[in-house]
Amino acid sequence: MEKDVIIALDFAGAAETNNFLDRFGEERPYVKVGMELFYAEGPGIVREIKRRGLRLFLDLKLHDIPHTVERAMAVLSRLDVDMVNLHAAGTVEMMRAALRGLTRPDGTRPLALAVTQLTSTNEEQMQRELLINATMAETVVQYAGNTRATGLDGVVCSPLEAGAVKAACGPDFLTVTPGIRFAGAAKDDQARVMTPARARESGSDMIVVGRPITGADDPVAAWKRCVNEFTGR
Ligand code: C5P
Repeated sequence: MEKDVIIALDFAGAAETNNFLDRFGEERPYVKVGMELFYAEGPGIVREIKRRGLRLFLDLKLHDIPHTVERAMAVLSRLDVDMVNLHAAGTVEMMRAALRGLTRPDGTRPLALAVTQLTSTNEEQMQRELLINATMAETVVQYAGNTRATGLDGVVCSPLEAGAVKAACGPDFLTVTPGIRFAGAAKDDQARVMTPARARESGSDMIVVGRPITGADDPVAAWKRCVNEFTGR
């Protein structure tokens, strides 16, 4: 898998999203649509982005009973998205059902990632509220192992955990990491951040970058800087 930068399109609606994408002209960035934009605009925004010829990660983090997730994934697969995700906490049975739903009649399917522990959850909350009697690192590696055993392609995790996940699950198991900031820039609400260059060294395969690109005066230049620092291209 070629290393890549995924731009988080954290916009409230289609007009703002299309204005932003128009700035990229003939460039073809890999983009991510999350809950806010998808719930506001529905499948139409996905079709519009695919019509522009862009690769798309639909970040809806499914977590429900296996049958429901299987049916929902079948709908997302028909939207021709390139990558989807779900919560590993939904169990191996739920992840297997998701893969069945995602697989198209011709045998192809979008890439599928699992969220291990959200980077907004800390170890104290996990242990006290969720009664998970293990360290954060142990939990992330355990969930990543479940994900790999199920046949999914990788996990979304902090770049700080990417190395441990690679060590446990092998070099071909994808790590997609948000929490990226240019050196010296504001962290916003991200607690633990890394530069694109450090994320590359950490073993991250793809980085998800929102505000450092969407909030830049020149988003195309910021995206190119990110791609250059992360991939060397
Ligand atoms: O603006 P920023 O670069 O912080 O955006 C990061 C993106 O990655 C957001 O869309 C956020 O929802 C997503 N994300 C995250 N942490 C996770 C999973 C997803 O920041 N653990």
